[in-house]
Amino acid sequence: MDCIFISRSTFPKVLYDELGRHFRLDVWNSDGIGMWNRKAAPPPDVLKRKFSECDGAVITIGDKVTEETLSGARIRVLATYSVGFDHIDLSAATRRGIPVSYTPEVLVESVADFAFGLMLGVSRKIVEGDRIIRNGSAGAVWGEYIGDEVWGKTMGILGLGNIGTAIARRATAFRMRVIYWSRHRKPHVETALGIEPVSLEDLFRESDYLVLAVALGEETRHIVNEERLRLMKRTSYLINVARGAIVDTDALVKALKNGWIRGAALDVYEDEPIPAESELLRLSNVVLTPHIASASLDTRVKMAEITAKSVENVLLNNGLPIYLAN
Ligand code: DGY
Repeated sequence: MDCIFISRSTFPKVLYDELGRHFRLDVWNSDGIGMWNRKAAPPPDVLKRKFSECDGAVITIGDKVTEETLSGARIRVLATYSVGFDHIDLSAATRRGIPVSYTPEVLVESVADFAFGLMLGVSRKIVEGDRIIRNGSAGAVWGEYIGDEVWGKTMGILGLGNIGTAIARRATAFRMRVIYWSRHRKPHVETALGIEPVSLEDLFRESDYLVLAVALGEETRHIVNEERLRLMKRTSYLINVARGAIVDTDALVKALKNGWIRGAALDVYEDEPIPAESELLRLSNVVLTPHIASASLDTRVKMAEITAKSVENVLLNNGLPIYLAN
């Protein structure tokens, strides 16, 4: 019986049930700490050994797959339970003829909803308001506790893939003006949604809400840097549902402290989990969530189903994953 290594014990049950019908499962016990938390990930030497012992592997974004981890690999399929695959050296997998499966499309609407949640959470002070109530000082703030509106404002979207497009669709329903920057222009989306392409610099200059929805790669690492943050309006907000390393965190902290922008709402960090000494934790104009933009029950179950079916496609039917990253 073929063996599948699974790097977490906390994926939706359907994943273990489905794969367990056909394969022997070798599940890494992550002590139940956050699925995408790097601390829950099997160490590189374990990954390497499991890849050389098993026929397939299911991993997720805390699991870094490098040339070294793949050397001596026996696996015939590598499935990541995520839309992002920046944690995997795709060329190393391709060189070894290992197809890499991922889970786009099913999490698009969930992440787009969450981006709006973050935007409203920070701009209308929903999260700060909750804190004030719990601290027992709600009576004092009715008059002075004033946030920023969303409707009628300009949303800038960095990256117009499926998630960026779903965010743009929501923004037009909120009667926002939407501008975007993407490596490839999307004229059909521009026409369908009435949104405008702009230069990268204008995106930073004109956005009231700048939403990051771009994949992490060499071109986009620290694309949000000090120079560009300085271009933003002092009344603007930065929302990140993509990857932490798209933003230079030190520059962002400076921007938030010095009032170059009014606030930020972040679901992702350069280091995950966010380090206890991070200055972001001490700033009141920031909303922070623990990388949960896709974490709705329906979406997570669909991600698990796609992952399991993709492994089966390759190992049982000699076919390809449902979504192939390489
Ligand atoms: C993923 O699946 O890669 C994302 O981080 C979802 O938020």
